[in-house]
Amino acid sequence: MVTLKPRFPGELILLAQRDPLALFQCMAAAGGERGGEMVRAGIGPRELFLLNHPDLVRALLAYTGDALIKERALRLSRIVLGTGLVTSDGALHRQQRRLLLPGFHQRQVAASAEVMVALTQQRAAGWRPGEVIAVDTEMMRLTLEIAAKALFGAELRGEVGELQRAVLIALTIFDRHRNPFAELLNRLPLPATVRVWRARRRIEQTVRRFIQERREGGTASADILSLLLAARDEETGIGLTDAQIRDEIVTLLLTGHETTAVALTWTWYFLARHPGVEARLHAEVDAVCGERSPTFDDVKTLTYTRQVVSEALRLRPPVWAVSRQAVAEVEIGDYLFPRGATLVVCQYALHRDPAWWREPERFRPERFAAEAEPPLRKFTYLPFSGGPRGCIGEHFAWTECILVVAALARRWRLQAAEEEPIGLRPSITLRPDRPVRMRLVRR
Ligand code: HEM
Repeated sequence: MVTLKPRFPGELILLAQRDPLALFQCMAAAGGERGGEMVRAGIGPRELFLLNHPDLVRALLAYTGDALIKERALRLSRIVLGTGLVTSDGALHRQQRRLLLPGFHQRQVAASAEVMVALTQQRAAGWRPGEVIAVDTEMMRLTLEIAAKALFGAELRGEVGELQRAVLIALTIFDRHRNPFAELLNRLPLPATVRVWRARRRIEQTVRRFIQERREGGTASADILSLLLAARDEETGIGLTDAQIRDEIVTLLLTGHETTAVALTWTWYFLARHPGVEARLHAEVDAVCGERSPTFDDVKTLTYTRQVVSEALRLRPPVWAVSRQAVAEVEIGDYLFPRGATLVVCQYALHRDPAWWREPERFRPERFAAEAEPPLRKFTYLPFSGGPRGCIGEHFAWTECILVVAALARRWRLQAAEEEPIGLRPSITLRPDRPVRMRLVRR
């Protein structure tokens, strides 16, 4: 194990607060090629461990005990997400995951495909050739509409813009988690906190409408909302409280669209800068779909489209790191971690480690082809993490990304409206640091 040494006292504390992505990259670099499978850094009183080798990463993700919980940043986000699947731990998490899993089965995802394509086409119906759009905002609104309809059977209609703005404000809470006094700040009526409270209330207003409409309409459906409303405790027969149902819906609505919107935004960004890749993607979409809209069955045939999305997720993983906190001493791989340790897997670093990736900074979707050389090494590519806390919506997200790209690429090219490369703003997800402006060109 290597320990990252600060160049001056307090350097690592500063870095952890200002730019954790840079800190993890420094840690990964300190590990060096193949040598450093784990790198430790002391951040004030905290001990941070970056797990940098696929075997160690696998051991961490497979862990099922109760000695590791979600890290402080996510626990702090309960102010927005409540205690839904993302922020819960232990027995409650296992119960919630069991309850929600059927809502993400293949059959359910297949049933959502039509909604994904129809809403994409509906959004693009308002596009005009030559117009410049902020593709990040456009993708957020689209994926928000898709999540509402596919998971909860609800239309967002005219409120999508307002709701998307509320979501953006609510998510600013994640930028606060680096502040050592965040717990206190979250309870004080500071202007920034009040804005977040208000945003959560705005999101809840929509979520209440979803629940009310379903209860009044009484339509039978196999979606997530029905699962939540019908859930009964095996022993007591008692259903979920309204607050529990609301937390679960807010969690899925937020995690289920923002990540996907970021993935799609970077996919368009890379496509616009790689005309050869774009041409090959167009050829595939035209050959597979012809004059009709893409369908769920096309998802497995659109292999190059999948490679393009995979490569965008490699270079710009929306969830750029996952962290766990040890609440007791815990053994992972051959290492014993002390109580209080923070264990991190940084997808952004792992996905570009020269030990596992040839020409790691190059956008080259072909590296994900089935016959590619060298073959993909397991646990070096983890945009959806894995194991019992891996992304429950992974299959949904792949289907959505591939269908949205195919449905839009049939009719449109998105051309970069600015030459300068777009930088990164690592928040809860790896967002672009400014609006991604693109010009719409009819194909
Ligand atoms: C490209 C899109 C997406 C990416 C990159 C992504 C990535 C991830 C990752 C890395 C995790 C694990 C976080 C951790 O271990 O701390 C996660 C968890 C989760 N994701 Fe996703 N996700 C995406 C889309 C979705 C969608 C579409 C949904 C729901 C419809 C969803 C719902 C969730 C939930 C509920 C969890 C928590 C699971 C648990 O703790 O049991 N995600 N996601």
